[in-house]
Amino acid sequence: MNSTQSGLKSASRLLLGCLGGGQPSVAIVLGSGLDVQLDKNYWEMPASEIPGFVLPTVDGHTGRVTAGTLGQRDVLLIQGRVHCYEGIPEENVAFQVHLVRELGISNIVLVSAAGGIRDDLDPGSMMLVEDHLCAQPLQANAERGAVYDAGWRQRVIAASDGLRISCGVFVWTIGPSYETPAEIVAFERRGGNAVGMSLVPEALWASALGMRVFAVAIITNRASGLSKGRLGHAEVLRAALDAQANVTKLLVHAVAQSPKLHV
Ligand code: HPA
Repeated sequence: MNSTQSGLKSASRLLLGCLGGGQPSVAIVLGSGLDVQLDKNYWEMPASEIPGFVLPTVDGHTGRVTAGTLGQRDVLLIQGRVHCYEGIPEENVAFQVHLVRELGISNIVLVSAAGGIRDDLDPGSMMLVEDHLCAQPLQANAERGAVYDAGWRQRVIAASDGLRISCGVFVWTIGPSYETPAEIVAFERRGGNAVGMSLVPEALWASALGMRVFAVAIITNRASGLSKGRLGHAEVLRAALDAQANVTKLLVHAVAQSPKLHV
């Protein structure tokens, strides 16, 4: 057993002890600057106390695991995402996903900030991910057919009256720098609708582990070259904060509509 695997076992023992048999059916992993107000918090633990948890180094990614309820359903909320651009191997980037699976939770919701490429994807809108393109190769060994659960997505669309949501293709780039305007033009020609630096490695691992995946890109900015302003992390964090109330509303639907069957 390598150190990641033994960290995983210790972490899951610790969290299963905290959960005390009351196992959530959904885990939510949040990205850059995003926060969600749970209805009830049972307990929370700083990521630094969880063995093996790869700690975030980027501003806006506090590391914390919280168990609570959202819209009457028990959930596990994981804040503290790490990225391939932090020099962390892809499998460790997905530590949180492995941990969720180890806890026996089969439904995962992945939330990431992203830049909007398609015309209607302006800040504050939300794009449910139906598929993705990778600007750089990834190793995760998923069945590449259907990473994102179409039935789950359709049920959320049907339930989410009044929210600015649409579906689209997420382009994953390794970062950490934002794209050039020419790259955005190229992504658009290839069918990409929004661009971000996370979500896809985790989605591929979750799918490879047999989990059901629902993913949403919170549009925090127009992608590079598509607006006049200068694109930067501070703007992304500000827009993520502004989106919080709508993100929470969407997540209530995502949790309520999650698949009932365990894998
Ligand atoms: N590009 C890449 N990642 C992002 C962006 C973007 O425009 N916005 C938020 N995350």
